[in-house]
Amino acid sequence: MGVGLQADVAGIAPTLDRRQARMRGIVFHLGLASRTDASRSIAVTDPVAAWHTEHAYFAQLLRLLRREIDVIHAGEDPNYELMVDILSYLHEYADRVHHPREDVAFARLARHCPDMKVVLGRLEQEHRVIETAGIELLSRIEAAVGGEVVPREKIEAAAATFLVYYESHLAREESEVLARAGKHLTPADWDAVRSSVASIPDPVFGKDPQERFRALRRQIARES
Ligand SMILES: [Fe+2]
Ligand SMILES: [Fe+2]
Repeated sequence: MGVGLQADVAGIAPTLDRRQARMRGIVFHLGLASRTDASRSIAVTDPVAAWHTEHAYFAQLLRLLRREIDVIHAGEDPNYELMVDILSYLHEYADRVHHPREDVAFARLARHCPDMKVVLGRLEQEHRVIETAGIELLSRIEAAVGGEVVPREKIEAAAATFLVYYESHLAREESEVLARAGKHLTPADWDAVRSSVASIPDPVFGKDPQERFRALRRQIARES
């Protein structure tokens, strides 16, 4: 067993895989209803499904990251570059686009559903925790890549915090938020969500992925 990480988000990805998404004409990217994915000829129709699909992507990356942490735990050499790519992507896209948009969606949803205020407040707070934990983990891994002696336990501990928080966070958004957001958020709310953060292309899963993530994309393709 790796580092004792038990959180389970296995329910996320299978709920709506890419093939199903294709069949339903769904696009990937929280609230980006005007976007199309040319590589898959997908038209945007459903912001909740797009939201869910981003979660499935993140969950897939967390599984890849967990596997590398298990390699470290086993005393072997992990693929540090892959870990750096995953954490860099999550920082650049999830921390800066997905989570800020969710913060706006949560605020709007709390107005429609006051009974959700506590849950939504906790999830918003977790966005800060996840970002801090991710930066901490990335800095330890980059130090190791740079030749510094970083004890394996330090990387494992930082990874445990990050993975447990993240996986639990995704699972709770899936089970407690998405369906109610789909039911209660209005078109004006979704417009506010979309316009809350400047639209940047997803550098890994978007139609024009960045070259620097080529190795990560190859790994994702191998797993699919
Ligand atoms: Fe979130
Ligand atoms: Fe999320």
